[in-house]
Amino acid sequence: MPFTVAVDGPAAAGKGTVARAVAARFGFAHLDTGLLYRAVGAKGGDPVAAAQSLTEADLARDDLRSEAAGEAASRVAALPEVRGALVAFQRDFAARPGGAVLDGRDIGTVICPDAAVKLFVTAAPEVRARRRWLEAGGDTAPESFDSVLDQVRARDARDMGRADAPLRPAADAVELDTSGLSIEAAVARAVAVVAERLERSSGG
Ligand code: CDP
Repeated sequence: MPFTVAVDGPAAAGKGTVARAVAARFGFAHLDTGLLYRAVGAKGGDPVAAAQSLTEADLARDDLRSEAAGEAASRVAALPEVRGALVAFQRDFAARPGGAVLDGRDIGTVICPDAAVKLFVTAAPEVRARRRWLEAGGDTAPESFDSVLDQVRARDARDMGRADAPLRPAADAVELDTSGLSIEAAVARAVAVVAERLERSSGG
């Protein structure tokens, strides 16, 4: 039976790092679903047509990680037709026999409501903005901390406020607040939750 781990949460909460580490630790495949929305936003033109014709090459573009691409992603992600066009790809990925980890915003609520494990990785907006700002160079970053914080808040508001698949924890998600945690500590907690579920699902 496929074993799916759903990792959801807001921008820069650490969900990508947690998802990658869990996948590596248990030998599961990993899909960063944000990349799908980033690729749709980056293609330009009609976003619905872009989502319907998305290819591997679109996902391999090297300009998808920028804040501008994240902003564009969050805009096209509010369109139900775009989200609908990406469902089958994500569900197929989740059903692969060796186990899969998907990270995004609506994995535990919409894409994989029956996932074996659901993690909701979060952190205070100020903490997330500081991480993004430090990644961009801190005092030498092109943008001030306050402007990064404004962007984080704006993206949260759009992702949580949209009508279709808004960002929220599934009722049965385990919340992991990484505000005061190191990456190692956050990963260790996530690994412990997954290990415990795996043991239960194998009857051990
Ligand atoms: O890395 P970061 O958390 O900043 O962003 P991301 O996970 O790459 O997602 C970029 C944007 O895509 C988000 O702000 C969401 O609006 C959208 N998204 C979504 O709606 N559903 C997903 N499953 C993944 C991303």
